[in-house]
Amino acid sequence: MEYTAQHNQALWWQQGVIYQVYPRSFMDSNGDGIGDLQGIIAKLDYLTWLGVDAIWISPIYPSPMIDFGYDITNYTDIDPIFGDLATFDSLLEQAHQHGLRVIMDYVPNHTSDQHPWFQESRSSRANPKRDWYVWADPKPDGSPPNNWQGSWGGSAWEWDATTNQYYLHSYHKTMPDLNWRNPAVKEAMFDVVRFWLDRGVDGLRIDSAQRIMKDPELRDNPPNPSPLVTPYKSLGEYDLQLHIHDKGHPDIHTVYRELRQLLNTYSSESPRVALGEMHIFDWPEWARYYGVQLDELHMPLNFGLVGVPWKARTVRQLVDSVEAALPPKAWPNYVLDNHDETRIASRIGPQQVRVAMMLLLTLRGTPTLYYGDEIGMHDVEIPPEYIQDPWGKNLPGRGLGRDPARSPMQWDDSPNAGFSPPAIDPWLPIANDYKQANVAVQRQDRHSMLSLTRALLQLRRTTLSLAVGSYTPIEDVPDDCFVYIRRFGKQQRLIALNISGDEQQVQLPKMGSGRILVSTHLDHEKPVDLGSLLLRGDEGCIIELVDTI
Ligand code: NOJ
Repeated sequence: MEYTAQHNQALWWQQGVIYQVYPRSFMDSNGDGIGDLQGIIAKLDYLTWLGVDAIWISPIYPSPMIDFGYDITNYTDIDPIFGDLATFDSLLEQAHQHGLRVIMDYVPNHTSDQHPWFQESRSSRANPKRDWYVWADPKPDGSPPNNWQGSWGGSAWEWDATTNQYYLHSYHKTMPDLNWRNPAVKEAMFDVVRFWLDRGVDGLRIDSAQRIMKDPELRDNPPNPSPLVTPYKSLGEYDLQLHIHDKGHPDIHTVYRELRQLLNTYSSESPRVALGEMHIFDWPEWARYYGVQLDELHMPLNFGLVGVPWKARTVRQLVDSVEAALPPKAWPNYVLDNHDETRIASRIGPQQVRVAMMLLLTLRGTPTLYYGDEIGMHDVEIPPEYIQDPWGKNLPGRGLGRDPARSPMQWDDSPNAGFSPPAIDPWLPIANDYKQANVAVQRQDRHSMLSLTRALLQLRRTTLSLAVGSYTPIEDVPDDCFVYIRRFGKQQRLIALNISGDEQQVQLPKMGSGRILVSTHLDHEKPVDLGSLLLRGDEGCIIELVDTI
């Protein structure tokens, strides 16, 4: 390593790169058309070859699979579709042997309606678990208790004729919300955390993290004065309200402080991490989830790049706003897409996707890389008869279905792309360009997207300025370029991204000369005069600075 000036004290989750495995779609080892834990084990060598540091596995618990695992019937077991606890333990052990950490998806906001807790809760008003969920009386006219909307359309309340009350479900009606105000619920859910930490998992990705605390008085949400301004994606009727009462009640911070204390009791052995799924785009509000004393979530996930208009100015503004909002010593993070979103290749187009990967892997903060993005996978069109996602089914024709981004991983050019054995129908269709766009083919091609992703990961791993250094944006560059410096001690790397298809001339004469270490085109490493740096269309470069300002 080329630095001497300072010590790197960053923890694994700060300097590492997280790879998201959507288990149904990663690797099918038993030929049922659905990915599984043995499939992940079979690909651990690949993941270490690629150069990531941790895997976050989307839910693998027993589930009726209405929401493909986010609807859980038992938090402390594995669904037979994926394997069993012994296979999970083996995965964990082998991942650790490979130097990979494992992050579990923890789903605290809701269970499946088939969970024994809910079965008890709904059986009678007198049941001891009645208050484990959010039940409420109808209004005098029989309508739902308030105006809250489910994220996937319609009222968030479902009538239950057995006990003549409504129950709350922030998502699908088969996914009732737990009542975290009941201390027994909190304790039971903290026991779930202990169960997985005791087994040795390295962290939690907390699903719907902002939702667990609602207004205890169940007040109506007020109307949204500007429903057309959606920083993220348009959710139709849901956007007509300001969601100030159905999530994010200030009491939530107490819960996350307690959760952090729980994680801390395990962290002396090996640091554990809590990442929270947060769709918050008001950055100071988002930053509150780090905690005033950095005593809540290690990282509220940052979805800013998922929806930002893909222009140099807007991307830079986003990064600068996130940096400005961070509490001192809080560590940022970035996400380009995930199993809920349009894949980055489909959102910004194949030309810019390499630039996006360079951005993700050179910004200050922990990147989360969605499976398949390393080979440039794009959304796959799903014929109506194959639609699986409840969101897509609930609101058909609105482009909200998430199946397109969940198509099976493309491993090679054999039938089913090496995901399932030939002659099996995988649970979702495979992309029709899989014969060219797959891991095996791209491994052989030193100019491929996979080669780029791997080169960026290797460089990040061996270059402290990229892994943990500071971030400084550079002014006076062409409008279509985003240029910044990452610095650690004396080590400096300039990242120059051309977020356009046209050639750009970046003029930074005071910076002297440098050396291009990686271009997104993967066709040259060479000395460069920064007084006149030519970026080709859709090109990004990482440049080692020789003379500094
Ligand atoms: C967010 C998850 O990422 C998504 O896939 C899921 O449907 C909802 N939370 C509900 O659990």
